[in-house]
Amino acid sequence: MNNKEIVAKALQAAIGDELSYDQIVNFLEKPKSADHGDVAFPTFALAKIFRKAPQQIAADIAEKIDSTDFEKIEVVGPYLNFFMNKTVISQAVLKEVVANGNHFGDSNIGNENNVTIDMSSPNIAKPISMGHLRSTVIGNSISLILAKIGYQPVKINHLGDWGTQFGKLIVAYKKWGSAEAVKAAPITELLRLYVEFHERAETEPVLNDEARAWFKKLEEDDAEALELWQWFRDESLKEFNNIYDMLGITFDSFNGEAFYNDKMAEVVTMLEEKHLLKEDQGAEIVDLEAYNLNPALIKKSDGATLYITRDLAAAIYRKRTYNFEKSLYVVGNEQTVHFKQLKAVLKEMGFDWSDNMEHIKFGLITKDGKKLSTRKGKIVLLEEVLNEAKDSALQQIVEKNPDLPNKEEVAHQVGVGAVIFHDLKNDRLNNFDFDLKEVVRFEGETGPYVQYTHARAMTILEKANFKPDAKVSYQLNDADSWEIIKLLQTYPETVTQAADQYEPSVIAKHAIKLAQAFNKYYAHTKVLVEDQGKEARLALVYAVTVILKEDLRLLGVEAPNKM
Ligand code: ARG
Repeated sequence: MNNKEIVAKALQAAIGDELSYDQIVNFLEKPKSADHGDVAFPTFALAKIFRKAPQQIAADIAEKIDSTDFEKIEVVGPYLNFFMNKTVISQAVLKEVVANGNHFGDSNIGNENNVTIDMSSPNIAKPISMGHLRSTVIGNSISLILAKIGYQPVKINHLGDWGTQFGKLIVAYKKWGSAEAVKAAPITELLRLYVEFHERAETEPVLNDEARAWFKKLEEDDAEALELWQWFRDESLKEFNNIYDMLGITFDSFNGEAFYNDKMAEVVTMLEEKHLLKEDQGAEIVDLEAYNLNPALIKKSDGATLYITRDLAAAIYRKRTYNFEKSLYVVGNEQTVHFKQLKAVLKEMGFDWSDNMEHIKFGLITKDGKKLSTRKGKIVLLEEVLNEAKDSALQQIVEKNPDLPNKEEVAHQVGVGAVIFHDLKNDRLNNFDFDLKEVVRFEGETGPYVQYTHARAMTILEKANFKPDAKVSYQLNDADSWEIIKLLQTYPETVTQAADQYEPSVIAKHAIKLAQAFNKYYAHTKVLVEDQGKEARLALVYAVTVILKEDLRLLGVEAPNKM
């Protein structure tokens, strides 16, 4: 139970049936300053009911409550200020954390139901960019958070492995490429070819016609086209997998756009049967005026299918295959209209489950204030960023802890963790600028700061050779430990809040606050001094290590024991 619930229960008993428990909870406030206690109850609403002055009501209620859960209850005008009994609460909270370990905060809200998470989904033959990094780490964290509350996440990498760009690539490869160059550095070379194609097509528009023709061949299962396509896909996926390995992220499915090639005819037939398709200058569209949206283009005049056609087939396939409770698409803001159209078409088709599809949007990453794009070859290679982050972490570790045995391994955990943490600590809708120096700092609101705090706390436990015991009553009642206890106590609701909002930043912010509260505590308190309170202080340190590590785990970040 959290403090508001404890207070509400006590108030309910004192007030009687005049106010429901839920009404009471709604009235409760968190005082701005700790001088006014942990929870406050304004009595204005009761004045009418009891026909008494709020001040009098507050005093009467205070009289009636007699519980060891509170240190004191102050009546300040019409307010009742509750001061929680730190000894009682800390004992209960520490007991729960010690008993449950990293399963503290687990629940079965999800009832094992499936949630599909469309995430990462980079495009073949193009580098996986900082933008795809966002989708990858946000999707991964959401999957971990949902699993903690009892859902079965299904992580789907909807690879961009089909579309007119393959026509362009084949043309460019045949004209200006070589097998050796592709083998040596697949994505770099394929990107070079793609960029070259666009540059030349500006003055040589026939190239576009050739590209269209090759894509048509591909769609018609031409052997040469298919072989090249498969090769581009395999080589690209190898490079993507290197990055996923570095991030420690796995997928349940790599069914990309091409997977739906043989599943779109059924979609088109369904649309026809429901009389939803309209002809428009030779193309087939679904009118979405009723939704205030532009029409969805299902088939071009040359018969080629589109991004949205494949997404329609994919959505239906996912419903049939996974019977999802929710279907999430972790994709940048800029595709908002696409996902609105996708849902609207499915709704028109009579699929009410389309209401359970959700576009989990996120903002842009900029570098030095500028947008990153692949079209003009202006890209930041993710692999380079991760390696730079690792190097920077290594430098700092060498300075801080020259004797650390597994420096390389820890540098990897810290460097990569720093990039992930930085991405997740702000509300996902915010845009943010990527400055590597900022990201890998050991101070401030960074991943390394949280990891460092965790490692520091682990060292204390090791020094003391502390073993927690769920049968022992650990009790604390000082102000600094109280700040930590409150952050531990509210952990389960922090997790559900992060899940409800699909917002990993809720977890990241909790980690930062917990690390800060711990560092403040440690600066003011001699944890290891030999007195009666030592075991309780160590239990608190232990609980901090467990929850910091769990926070980091939910973000997809590792927590080294030493750094
Ligand atoms: N490949 C797309 C891109 O890089 C993202 C795909 C998102 N998922 C989807 N089902 N449309 O922009």
